[in-house]
Amino acid sequence: MQEQICFINGSFVPAGEASVSVFDRGLLFGDGVYEVLRIRNAVVFRPQAHYLRMQSGLDTLGIGNPWNEQEFACLCAELAQRNRVRGGHVYLQVTRGVAPRTHLVPRNLQPTLIGFAAEADLPKWKDRPSGLTAITVSDPRWARCNIKTTMLLPNSLAKQRAADAGAYEAVFVSEDGLVREGASTNVFVVLDDVIYTHPDDQRILPGITRAIVLDLAQAEGLTVKQQPVQVERLQDAHEVFLTGTTTDVGPVIRIDDRPVGNGKIGPVTAALMHKYSELLADETGTD
Ligand SMILES: Cc1ncc(COP(=O)(O)O)c(C=O)c1O
Repeated sequence: MQEQICFINGSFVPAGEASVSVFDRGLLFGDGVYEVLRIRNAVVFRPQAHYLRMQSGLDTLGIGNPWNEQEFACLCAELAQRNRVRGGHVYLQVTRGVAPRTHLVPRNLQPTLIGFAAEADLPKWKDRPSGLTAITVSDPRWARCNIKTTMLLPNSLAKQRAADAGAYEAVFVSEDGLVREGASTNVFVVLDDVIYTHPDDQRILPGITRAIVLDLAQAEGLTVKQQPVQVERLQDAHEVFLTGTTTDVGPVIRIDDRPVGNGKIGPVTAALMHKYSELLADETGTD
């Protein structure tokens, strides 16, 4: 099997030869942002949206964007192609760069650039009519979750807790009981024919899939309210689903060991799963 080819600071090298400095601010402080993009039929899905989100994170952190939109898209495509990925993901990361360790933020560093792509099993919930399960966990994260930083320890630990409980996702709940988002997904709750999802503010990541699904829901004439839901209301929810690049539209049929609705994939979720997979096929070709 061919060794994975990584991108590092302008060069493509085998994974075993790629290295970064121990003084990289990404390593020492989590001082950087990243993107994960979907590859389907060897096509990178919606690079522009991911580029714009990365731009916004870099602007907030005061790190220069090393790429323009076209360079970003070409790099994603080249990583997919060099690694012969037909279905999977491409990962790009920009850190502030290398500097002697200090909490003060050094200015005008040369950012460190990292990229890789890998084949991955793409979610196929429609082939798994049983749906997926989730647990709720308290949200210990900082108040700037809208920036897609590499500081993912709370997300990683929460995801592991979910896996240990036999669940797919951990849903973060705020101290005052509001459903925020999943460890790597956004959360939608259907209650009395209204779809609720947390507003696009600093407490959640503005998911690319979330935005697409909001458009699809609107086009379907569904009522959406971007309002947080109290965690207790999950018990009355008719449907719950997750969205994310590595999840697509994922139907949740159990939360914290209680069935959601009748414990089956509901009609709103099913319709949006269908519309989303149609859109993916439109933009990346049919299987
Ligand atoms: C915390 C969090 N929320 C939501 C998402 C979903 O975002 P997207 O649809 O852009 O993949 C992710 C993706 O990794 C995430 O890490």
